[in-house]
Parts: sequence; C-alpha cells; structure tokens
Amino acid sequence: MSYPFQIKSEAAYHQAYQQSVAHPEQFWEAIAQTFQWQKKWDQVLEWNFKEPRISWFKGGQLNITENCLDRHLAEDANSLAMIFEPNDVTTPAQQFTYQELFDKVNQFAWVLHNNGVKKGDRVCLYMGMIPALAIATLACARIGAIHSVIFGGFSAQSIADRLQDAQAAFIITCDGAHRGNKTIDLKNVIDDALVQCPFVQRVIVYMHTQTPISMKKDRDVWWEDEVQKVIAAQQTFFPAVAMDAEDPLFILYTSGSTGKPKGVVHTVGGYMVYATYTFVNVFQYQKGDVHFCTADIGWITGHSYIVYGPLCAGATTLLFEGIPTWPNAGRFWDIVDKHRVANLYTAPTAIRSLMGFGLAPLEGKELHSLKVLGTVGEPINEEAWHWYDEHIGKKQCPIVDTWWQTETGGILISNMAGITPAKPAYATLPLPGIQPVLVDEKGTILEGNAISGNLCIQFPWPGMLRTTYGDHERCRTNYFATYDNLYFTGDGCYRDEQGNYRITGRVDDVLNVSGHRIGTAEVENAINSHTGVVESAVVGYPHDIKGQGIYAFVIIDSLHGDAQLTQLDIAQTVARVIGAIAKPDKIQFVHGLPKTRSGKIMRRILRKIAEGALDQLGDTSTLLDPSVIASIVDGKL
Ligand code: PRX
Repeated sequence: MSYPFQIKSEAAYHQAYQQSVAHPEQFWEAIAQTFQWQKKWDQVLEWNFKEPRISWFKGGQLNITENCLDRHLAEDANSLAMIFEPNDVTTPAQQFTYQELFDKVNQFAWVLHNNGVKKGDRVCLYMGMIPALAIATLACARIGAIHSVIFGGFSAQSIADRLQDAQAAFIITCDGAHRGNKTIDLKNVIDDALVQCPFVQRVIVYMHTQTPISMKKDRDVWWEDEVQKVIAAQQTFFPAVAMDAEDPLFILYTSGSTGKPKGVVHTVGGYMVYATYTFVNVFQYQKGDVHFCTADIGWITGHSYIVYGPLCAGATTLLFEGIPTWPNAGRFWDIVDKHRVANLYTAPTAIRSLMGFGLAPLEGKELHSLKVLGTVGEPINEEAWHWYDEHIGKKQCPIVDTWWQTETGGILISNMAGITPAKPAYATLPLPGIQPVLVDEKGTILEGNAISGNLCIQFPWPGMLRTTYGDHERCRTNYFATYDNLYFTGDGCYRDEQGNYRITGRVDDVLNVSGHRIGTAEVENAINSHTGVVESAVVGYPHDIKGQGIYAFVIIDSLHGDAQLTQLDIAQTVARVIGAIAKPDKIQFVHGLPKTRSGKIMRRILRKIAEGALDQLGDTSTLLDPSVIASIVDGKL
C-alpha cells in the first residue's frame, strides 16, 4: 500500500501546510478520498466553535473496520497486521496476518451480535494488553457499537462511574492480566464495580491468566464458549454496519480540572482520516516496517497509534503486554531486536526510568532495525532526549516529539521523521491542517515569535472531539468558552524565533504523572472521602522519573495509628477510589491551607512549597491567615 498523502520533503510539508490553511476543505477531501467509503459525503466541513458543532464529511457513510481490515485483503491478506509480545519471555510471540485478524474480528462481531449488542450501544472494555483487546475494539466498531476502553489500572469505583455515565450495558474483560511479576485480577474488579451497575446485562470474559474468578449465571459468559457457538453456527463474515461519518466511534474518559472525568467522544469518519494521516506522515511509515507503540490501548495513544492509525495504513503493529523493566531493563531492546522494530514510540517517563539503569541493559543489543523514535504524553527534558538519540537511535534515527491530547484524536504538533527538523524538547511545527495560536490571559492572540502563552487551536481538524458524552455543555465550557472562537488545550506553550512550539505543561489543575493525566480535584475528592480528613489540596511537583509527582496537603482531625500509617491509609483510599496511578507520592498533614479572604485555596503558593521554591512564594499578605505558610513550610516533606 502506498500513501498518496505521504509528505516526502520539507518543501512538500510547507506546501501542504499552506494549502491546508488556504483551502482546508479541499485539502482534507483529497485525503479522505483515499479511504473506503460506503457512501460519499455531501459536505466536507461544517463548524461553529461557539456551540460547538463540528462535522466532517457529513452525509458520508463508512465502517472504519473496512478500512482497517477488508480493504487490505485483496493485496495484503498475508501481510502481518499485528505482532503480540507476551509479558512472559518464555511464552511464544503471536502473529496475525490481515486475513487472520479480519477473521477474528468478524467472529467476535458475531459474538457481540449474538449477545444482543446493537449499533449505538456502549460497550466497556477492561482488559490487559492482549490481542483480544484489539479484536474486541475492532469488533465493536464493526457492528457500530461505541467502545469505551478503561485502562486496567483504574479501580472498581472509577469503572462504576464510567459505566454509569455511559450507561454501558455490556462489558468485555479478562480473568486477569499479567504485568511484570504481578497478576491483576481484572474480573474481580469488574465484579466489585457491577455491584453499583445493575443495568449491565452481559459480561464477556476472556480467559488469559487462569485466575479463579466468579462467573455469574445469566450475566457472565466465556469468550471462548461464545466463539465456539459462532463456529458451530458457521457464522464467518459479518457485514460491516454502515455508520454515518459523524456517528460516535468511541468514548474515552479523561481527567479535567473538575472532579469528574469526562467522556471524550470521537466520531468515525474524521477520526479515521486524521489518525491515519498523522500516523503515516509523522512516523514516515514504510510498508513492512514494524511499529511498536508502547502505550496501553486504554489511553488515546493506543487507540490511534496501536489500533486504528496503523491498521488503516496496512501497517504491522506490535502489541506488548508487559512493562519495560521486567524481567529486566533490557526488555524494550530485546523486543526491538527480536521483532526487527522500525518505529519505537514511547513516553519520556519510560525513557527516564530506563536511563536510570545505565547502559548495561543495552549491552549486546543491536537496535539496527530502528528507523524512527517517538515520544508522547509529556514534555521531554533535553537530557532524556539526548540519551534516546545517542544510545537508542545511535544518532541515526530522527526523534519525533509528538504533542497531542485525548481530545485531539491524533498528533497536532510534531516534526515529521527525517522530513522536518527536530529540536530537543520542542514538538516543533504544527501538522498540516492545524492552526495553533498563543493567547494571553484575556484571550488576545499573541503575534510574533519568541513568545509564551496559552495554546489554542483556531480552526477545526477532522480528529477533534465532538462532544463530551451525555453533557455537551461541559464540552463547550471546558474547551470552547475560555477564549472566544478558539479550542483551548489547557497547555502553556513557548514559540521560538523560528516558530517552533515547545509545550511547557498544563496551565489548569491537571497533573501529568508518568504521562497519565490526573485531575487534582479528583485526587482531592478521593482524599476527602477518607475518615477524619477535613480538607485537602493537591498539587504537582517536579519528579525525576514521573515528570510530575503528586503532593497532597491534608488537614486531618484524627490520626489512627501513627501519622505514617494514616498517610498510607489515605493513599490506599485514593487507590480504591481512582486507582493506584493516582496515589499521592507525598502527604503532608497541615493545620490550615493558604486561602484568600473569599475562601479560595492559593494553589500557586502550595505549588511553590512543593517544588521547594520557598523564595518564590510571592505576596502572601492577601491571605486570610498568612501564618499558615510558615507552619506548612516547617513541615515540608
Ligand atoms: O499537557 C499535554 C501533555 O499531555 C496532555 C494530554 O494528555 P492525554 O489526553 O492523556 O494524552 C496523552 C497522549 C496524547 C497534553 O495536554 N502532552 C502530550 N504530549 C506531549 C505533552 N506535553 C509535552 N510534549 C508532548 N509531546
């Protein structure tokens, strides 16, 4: 498969960019035409950021799985679609050709159909990183059900919240998942969540770890039994359901500055075009290359650059079940050599953690197959960038620093591998179709270069979110109401003399811990639900490996056991309410929090204290009780 829309030179990038701004509709229409549609669109773009109302390829009909699977069968049926590298090094890897993946997805689409799942139904997927997760995701898309994948690290309470919000009556899960030397009992977590979700009709369970689990009669069924029924009934090809371009493809919950995660909704047509276009161009994908994205399918990176982007492009995508440090810190490099990986796409936190093991884990690793390295999820510091460049890429592999968000569906700002120049710690230039602007607090657009501001996007692109599930007003207020006629990203940004963008981090109350997005309000709500806690304030602080760590200032009226035990108890409560990823790194008990006279917590001051920047606390005279500061500083961890 060749890609008519692949940009092959820096000049071609500039030309495409100019065209995408001057004639966005023509630009995207030409790209969309290279996909398989059941019915052509009537209108390329209709938009209004005030409402917001965004529609791409309106009137068009398609099924994304025909683009991921069916259309490759004529020429590429025997090409590798997916490689699976299990957690356990002694378990053989698995490979799926496009034909095999097509067969499995069709088979499981029948399973969903036979279990009563229909177009538009919400299906929650809570699984480990195994082929069954990719198959289930695609099978949902094939029958037109809206999938909502929940990362395996979330708690029962978080799952219940998401199931209730989406009113998802169907769940696909596993008995358990392997992660390093641990087994995570996913089905047990689901069972705990379902106590609060009586509307769930069916749970389909894939047996993976042979963990003993409870299977509730008339609700829970085994994946394999259902597949056997499909085989016995000779149900093979499942006709892909016709979807309107603007029908929802999936919901993905993500954290914002309020306490409740939002269900970001992406629709079929625009998302497909954008994820594929950016995959091919940013990584400069060449047919036959093995693409290894180390993210989890439970996050947007996995949706766009493990499943949909690569498969629509007919690429070979590698799925890894385990973690980078098990059985040792050479695991990624072994995988690269074993499967001849060309593109390695990972998070700065993983690079920093592997850097910490020194160069010994790299001994004896060839890494000759690598062509492109990528990073995503958080700002990459220069030290990590250079380590990646020197020791992994051997200065032969361009590094793409890709900036984007759950809401953007695909990469918005990044260099293109070997085509546009990289600059350490910079995402560099906007991709074609993306019109970034920097604004000041008042929303005035800041012209010129060598300038910092809040990053907004002023024109729609096909992969952008359309709504937040069940609450369109929330979508408007979160993203489109801060600044008039602009999509607000929540990120701060610097534009250098040459127009390169450097993301400096969130300007709202959202933390980025090991590339995971966590709202401070969510963590505070969880802490405040702990017995004896009166109030809390959570901020981020710089952390060598995680990027940001979570620092909680907590007022408590009674300790049970000693202070240290109570801190551990509180961390346990957070793990129970949200998941282990949100556990605070530091919990400091305080007698009071710095508040303004109107009762607002001055987080800026707490952030400075957590960072240890005690000389930068600024003016504290407007506080209701300035004396709390000294006592907080005294007790700093
Ligand atoms: O702050 C930015 C940071 O991650 C946020 C989006 O998080 P999430 O929706 O979970 O998606 C992560 C994967 C796309 C952004 O608002 N971020 C993402 N990529 C980068 C980044 N910060 C700096 N550089 C990046 N390359």
